[in-house]
Amino acid sequence: MELPEIVTTVRGLRAHVAAWRKDGLRVGLVPTMGALHAGHLFLVEESRKRSERTIVSIFVNPAQFAPHEDFDRYPRALQADAQKLGARADLIFAPSVAEMYPQGYATQIEVGGPSRGLETDFRPHFFAGVATVVAKLLIAAQPDLAVFGEKDYQQLLVIRRLVADLALPIEIVGAPIMREPDGLAMSSRNAYLGPRERAIAGKMNVILRTATSEEQAARALLDAGFDSVDYVAICDAETLGPAGDGPKRILAAAKIGGTRLIDNMEHK
Ligand code: PAJ
Repeated sequence: MELPEIVTTVRGLRAHVAAWRKDGLRVGLVPTMGALHAGHLFLVEESRKRSERTIVSIFVNPAQFAPHEDFDRYPRALQADAQKLGARADLIFAPSVAEMYPQGYATQIEVGGPSRGLETDFRPHFFAGVATVVAKLLIAAQPDLAVFGEKDYQQLLVIRRLVADLALPIEIVGAPIMREPDGLAMSSRNAYLGPRERAIAGKMNVILRTATSEEQAARALLDAGFDSVDYVAICDAETLGPAGDGPKRILAAAKIGGTRLIDNMEHK
């Protein structure tokens, strides 16, 4: 089977992109942390529909994990990921931590606006880590477009804000959430779940779909077997501010054992 080439340096990445540009080809980027599943592969398809060359970046970004979080045990499977991608990706960018954050690294990007609240209330470090690495990836690859999933809905809004504020000439494409047959949003972290936990996890999407209020849904998550609920929030879908007359989004984060799961969807 044809496997995509793997480059590990920004220099190597830029050489490929420069050659494609010279040929007038449109380039798409799909940033990931690897342990690829069908949700990631769907983003790759979205990129392929809109561009002639697709780069998948695979980098478990230490800057977006707090010391007590799962950076060390986050699944890493570069060879298996390359096989899953096969001919669907033209290039994998898989830098080392030292390539992305060399000795003396001291720059951080902080986005306000949509970063406020929700995830930030529980992971205050998180969006600065995401914004910094995504800005670095976008500047390294200089793609025409980059694809992100609605699975991480607040992250998608933060990245749209980042790209608008820095006037990066890159189209940000949002892709819908891919789900397991029982509706569980696909996630690399689902691999942490044992069979009992997996059954509980499958209830989150049903609870969000049928929620009548934030309080009712939070209680239903606990009754279903979640150990704790970080938040259930019904927000304005565009700003994540208080819900008004416009489209609404319901977003949740809850823990089972040591695993933290998030999900979101439109709210009628
Ligand atoms: P990761 O969790 O690997 O996700 C990479 C991309 O896949 C994100 O845009 C995410 O929203 C999308 N994704 C994950 N599960 C999905 C699903 N079930 N359906 C659709 N899309 C899904 O998100 C990150 O990595 C990182 O924060 C990153 C942006 C790469 C920066 O480090």
